[in-house]
Amino acid sequence: MTELRTAVFPVAGLGTRFLPATKANPKEMLPVVDKPLIQYAAEEAVSAGIETLVFVYGRNKGSIVDHFDKAYELETELHNKGKQEMLAAVKNVLPSHVSCVFIRQAEALGLGHAVLCARPVIGNEPFAVLLADDLVLSEQSCLSQMADVYNYHHCSVLGIENVAEDQVSSYGVIGGTSLKSGLWELDQIVEKPPIDQAPSTKAVIGRYILSHEIFAHLANQGKGAGGEIQLTDAIAKMMKSKRVLGYEFEGRRFDCGSKLGYLQAQLAYGLQHPDLGADFAEIARDELSKLSTQ
Ligand code: UTP
Repeated sequence: MTELRTAVFPVAGLGTRFLPATKANPKEMLPVVDKPLIQYAAEEAVSAGIETLVFVYGRNKGSIVDHFDKAYELETELHNKGKQEMLAAVKNVLPSHVSCVFIRQAEALGLGHAVLCARPVIGNEPFAVLLADDLVLSEQSCLSQMADVYNYHHCSVLGIENVAEDQVSSYGVIGGTSLKSGLWELDQIVEKPPIDQAPSTKAVIGRYILSHEIFAHLANQGKGAGGEIQLTDAIAKMMKSKRVLGYEFEGRRFDCGSKLGYLQAQLAYGLQHPDLGADFAEIARDELSKLSTQ
């Protein structure tokens, strides 16, 4: 069996739902409490045993490269001032056995195209894809749960979640048969279907484990929904010859690509923060009571 060693982070999207914050800054660098979204995603991948992180980035995304690079001046400054805790936070963004590869997607042609850009690094191995704007709060990380499913079944696994009917047309939606609680054998996947054409209300979230066969399908994939090369369409083709499972992960997902989802994530992560949680809860209660007396 081929081990899961590499994860791809497509971070070249335009982030139009979060303008103007994303005009000059990538949405993946938006912080939740004190860490940018991309760092949560990288840590999740590392927790699932991933050793190589492949970032597919675009224009205005240089700060992502900088975030995972060594920051000589800042480290020297913090060292000279004896700020050891802050120095550790800056130095230990990733463990030393993990390496990063950066690939430029010259044009934002779609998620499918971004994943195809990683082909030269991945070759014939299975790999994970994480969309950092989907932030998952869980005991065992979402990708680690999915890696357990992959290690047992040795096939592609998509992270799925039940969504409200009025949300279905915003997602890739799956159809299939239930194997056991939380696990689905997939025979359909449709990108952004109208509710009356959706095979279910189970949506694919930004977590995938894919076999390398996806690249052949992506290479021949034309434009789909929104005029973009869609990963969903290539998965639909791969499904005809290769097994694909859907896994309903345990945990709470926050859509941090949307303003409301991002605010909810701040609230949930802030309230659970070991140092700040109690004070933050008091502030939140105070704000709510001010609102109710207005
Ligand atoms: P989204 O559909 O969320 O698009 O992309 P977006 O541009 O990032 O955000 P909105 O919808 O305009 O607000 C899904 C993922 O695919 C990446 C994005 O960075 C995001 O992680 N992506 C999308 C690319 O890397 N390249 C692309 O050409 C398109």
